[in-house]
Amino acid sequence: MLISGTGSNMLALLDSCARGDIEGEVVTVLSDQPEAAGLAKATARGIAVQALPFEPDESRHDHDRRLRRAIEDSGAELVVLAGYMRILDEQFVQHFADRMLNIHPSLLPRHKGLHTHRRVLEAGDPIHGASVHYVTPELDGGPCVLQGCVAVRPDDDAESLRLAVHRIEHVIYPRVVGWVTAGRLKLVEGLPTLDGALLQQPIREEFSRS
Ligand code: GAR
Repeated sequence: MLISGTGSNMLALLDSCARGDIEGEVVTVLSDQPEAAGLAKATARGIAVQALPFEPDESRHDHDRRLRRAIEDSGAELVVLAGYMRILDEQFVQHFADRMLNIHPSLLPRHKGLHTHRRVLEAGDPIHGASVHYVTPELDGGPCVLQGCVAVRPDDDAESLRLAVHRIEHVIYPRVVGWVTAGRLKLVEGLPTLDGALLQQPIREEFSRS
């Protein structure tokens, strides 16, 4: 699992593994940010962690090769990006093609990139949410599996949307990872296939606001 920040998605995934909802274990948590709060949380749960910061004299390619080696050494079969904020180079992505997932805080293909909550408000979108997708070299552009959405309220600000989207993420990400580890979800010729059925478009689930 790769993280850069607080690691709330990481914790939701660890909880799901502990409950047995995900048939698998997190073998390592890696971060480009040595100070990422998520690293301490993973350590507290007994997970092996590694900080792999980008060195000033290192090329992006060399950094990603180092990251790839660390992942391979861990024995991981699936790479889960859980708030990992560095863009990965094409060779890295190709290497882990069809076994790397990401979660993104918007209803892709809307609002790829950063500051999604603010951009939803600026655009006046009536709904917002999160997407779990396979990773391809196109940033936030890989085939999407599951989305969760909520209504945007007139009194929302970026922080209230961030909280609402996090609640969704903590449900939909463990679900998708669970499908993969149970052998139910695969990429077949570049398209997600769940229980043998091709997903022409992502499954979309509506969530209520608390
Ligand atoms: C999540 O909202 C995730 O969707 C987003 O970072 C947050 C990480 O939170 N990821 C991206 O923006 C990737 N482009 P967390 O550290 O609490 O899991």
